Amino acid sequence: MSLVFPFDPNIERASTIPARVYNDPVFLELERERIFARTWQLAGRTDDLREHGQFITVQIENDPIVVLRDGETLRGFYNVCLHRAGPVAQGCGKRNTLQCRYHGWTYSLDGTLRRAPEMQGVQRFDPESMHLVPVQVATWGPLVFVNVDGKAPPLADVLEDLPTRLASFHCESMRYVMRKEWEIACNWKIYVDNYLEGYHVPVVHPGLHKELDYDNYVVEPRRYFSIQHAPLRPIEGGSGDRKYDPSATEAPEAVYAWLFPNMMLNVYLGQMQTNVVLPLGHDRCRVVFEWYAEHPPADAATDPSWTKLLAFSDEIQDEDIEICEIVQRNLRSRVYDRGRYSAARENGVHHFHSLLHEFLT
Ligand code: FES
Ligand SMILES: [Fe+2]
Repeated sequence: MSLVFPFDPNIERASTIPARVYNDPVFLELERERIFARTWQLAGRTDDLREHGQFITVQIENDPIVVLRDGETLRGFYNVCLHRAGPVAQGCGKRNTLQCRYHGWTYSLDGTLRRAPEMQGVQRFDPESMHLVPVQVATWGPLVFVNVDGKAPPLADVLEDLPTRLASFHCESMRYVMRKEWEIACNWKIYVDNYLEGYHVPVVHPGLHKELDYDNYVVEPRRYFSIQHAPLRPIEGGSGDRKYDPSATEAPEAVYAWLFPNMMLNVYLGQMQTNVVLPLGHDRCRVVFEWYAEHPPADAATDPSWTKLLAFSDEIQDEDIEICEIVQRNLRSRVYDRGRYSAARENGVHHFHSLLHEFLT
């Protein structure tokens, strides 16, 4: 089976990428090496790294990572002890050193090995010259990202003008509210494909379709991300069962940003939501939503505006999950290999596939 697959940069001529890219586990291995190990991945929240010694741990595909605050500096390391690969940190918390929980080798917060018990007599063993392997760390707003590729472009370069574009939403002053996650029986790319177009909204999301001005739905692909936005549909006659009131605020339009390969950032006035799509296998993924707000509710589970918002979010998510799982099953059919793109509606999907092609082949 070929790991190389065709891709046409001209969407009007292009066919979609072959079904085997979704179905064959070999592509997931390739994606782990060539995509997930080379791109910025969401690791946690700045709120958990405010004080000297605070740390968080995160698994980025095959790589366990620890991120910590050392004075003014955020540092990231592979959470893999230099001795026999024990963990130097677990969960999250606050410590002055990192101590491996296997045989107790101890590292300072800058990653230097400080203490290795009972290693007397071992030749060519110099703790002072031994360091945990570092990874890149960067923040945007309340979010912490890591990149295990030391040669990858800085996060700020990847985000281009996205922070400026989102400046009026004040994301940096938003605080964590809650998290929800789903295990979905589809390849991670099916969920991402589905996120990247509004083409399915009229058929899959009748409720959402009532809210959005579909004719003015725009997708803007950039180098490593894309932005989607759509104005709210004006209310004609009574507001009926509408969820959003377009006349209620002078709100800037909501922005739905996707960052290659697996993260979405949905920003609204006063709140935002991150979605991360994590492969669990070639035909399964976990999707994690985290909500942030400028004025977090005392309890999102009972706050009326949050229960309404979460119910609508669940409705849309359930609709997306159902279609993504059916598509995963159908991609295994012997009659399907490649389809075509709507040039008017699927430029975001085509852009994602162009990056897949660039990184994988
Ligand atoms: S594996 Fe870390 S001290 Fe042995
Ligand atoms: Fe959808």
